[in-house]
Amino acid sequence: MNKQKIKRLTVEYGGQWSYQHVQRVLNLIRLLGEGMNYDAEAVWYAAYLHDWGAFPQFNPDRVELGHEIRSRQVAETMLAGMELPDRSKKIILEAIENHDYRSDNRSQFMEAALLRDADFLDFLGFIGIAREFARGPKDMKECCKQAVARRDGVLNKLTLPRAKEMAAVRLAEMNDFLERLKQESFGYL
Ligand SMILES: [Fe+2]
Ligand SMILES: [Fe+2]
Repeated sequence: MNKQKIKRLTVEYGGQWSYQHVQRVLNLIRLLGEGMNYDAEAVWYAAYLHDWGAFPQFNPDRVELGHEIRSRQVAETMLAGMELPDRSKKIILEAIENHDYRSDNRSQFMEAALLRDADFLDFLGFIGIAREFARGPKDMKECCKQAVARRDGVLNKLTLPRAKEMAAVRLAEMNDFLERLKQESFGYL
């Protein structure tokens, strides 16, 4: 499967929601990985495929947890027919399997840390808030609760120094936003 098809299927199966998340993750990885020596090709595939196990296409029963394992399985099948170095394939699969903040990273590959930290940063800051409000439900109090739960879920799991610096900025933004929201909702949210 070529890159164009992977992009097209990411939109077809995961919608703009997923496609946009991947674009942010790739940009974050570029920033986090500046000056580092890593397999950019492997990271590209890992970033695009890391959430496929959450798409209805591959998760017909809409199971909430374990999408990283299903994503790995989907990627494994897909990569089998592709001409990529074995090491790159190993990196892609390990990065995908270990990306979720609810599991611990057991991969030694730098690329796995890059994907993981980039994915975590996307839960923080204004974007972290926007995501939860876009996700719904149509209940702002619940959306705030989800944003805070994600924030607290990823914060202590970041490992790269640059990611921790970016997280500190995003955390301040996020907390400021939540505080103002509280004021403007007269303490209700
Ligand atoms: Fe994920
Ligand atoms: Fe993700």
